[in-house]
Amino acid sequence: MVLPIVIYGDPVLRVDCPPVSEITEEIRTLARDMTETMRDADGVGLAAPQVGVALQLAVIDVAHAPELQTYFRVDGQEAVLSEWMPLVFINPEITPGRAREESTEGCLSFPGLRYQIKRPAQVSARLHLLDGRTITVETDGLLARALQHETDHLHGRLFIDRISAADKLTLKRRLREMYEDIEAEEREARRAARAAARADRAT
Ligand code: NI
Repeated sequence: MVLPIVIYGDPVLRVDCPPVSEITEEIRTLARDMTETMRDADGVGLAAPQVGVALQLAVIDVAHAPELQTYFRVDGQEAVLSEWMPLVFINPEITPGRAREESTEGCLSFPGLRYQIKRPAQVSARLHLLDGRTITVETDGLLARALQHETDHLHGRLFIDRISAADKLTLKRRLREMYEDIEAEEREARRAARAAARADRAT
């Protein structure tokens, strides 16, 4: 089931989420729905607070862009990226490398907004999976960025917290434009629904 994605301004996006303490059927269903929601929105990652659930659960899929990682290791062994995607995980612990790298980043809770964000280029991430396993992923590139971005979400941190001082100056205006775009889309959807209802009555 595709879930509605929470947009910036909702307080749930600022919650420091508690860890998942037990992998229940509800958690598995939520993970499936989040994966579907991420794909429906053409996203690379989605964290539970983005669908209104304050828990340390997230999903990432970078299978479409294997060239954006130069290495991918699971528990110290070279691994095949596509075999691990979508990667659903709970209670992540990230150890970042020292070198930093700037790249374009967006977020499904900020439709239309993209910023250059500097982050550690490499990470080691300890992830708990829904089948009870705990793995350590070492990688760089897009996956390293996504792991950091989603883990940030689980602690109430957002990518706009990491933008440059120059970008902060225009952030308010760009957020206003984002909300105006969302409102225009909602008005358009309501108009289309009314038109469809009228067409129904006419036939
Ligand atoms: Ni995000």
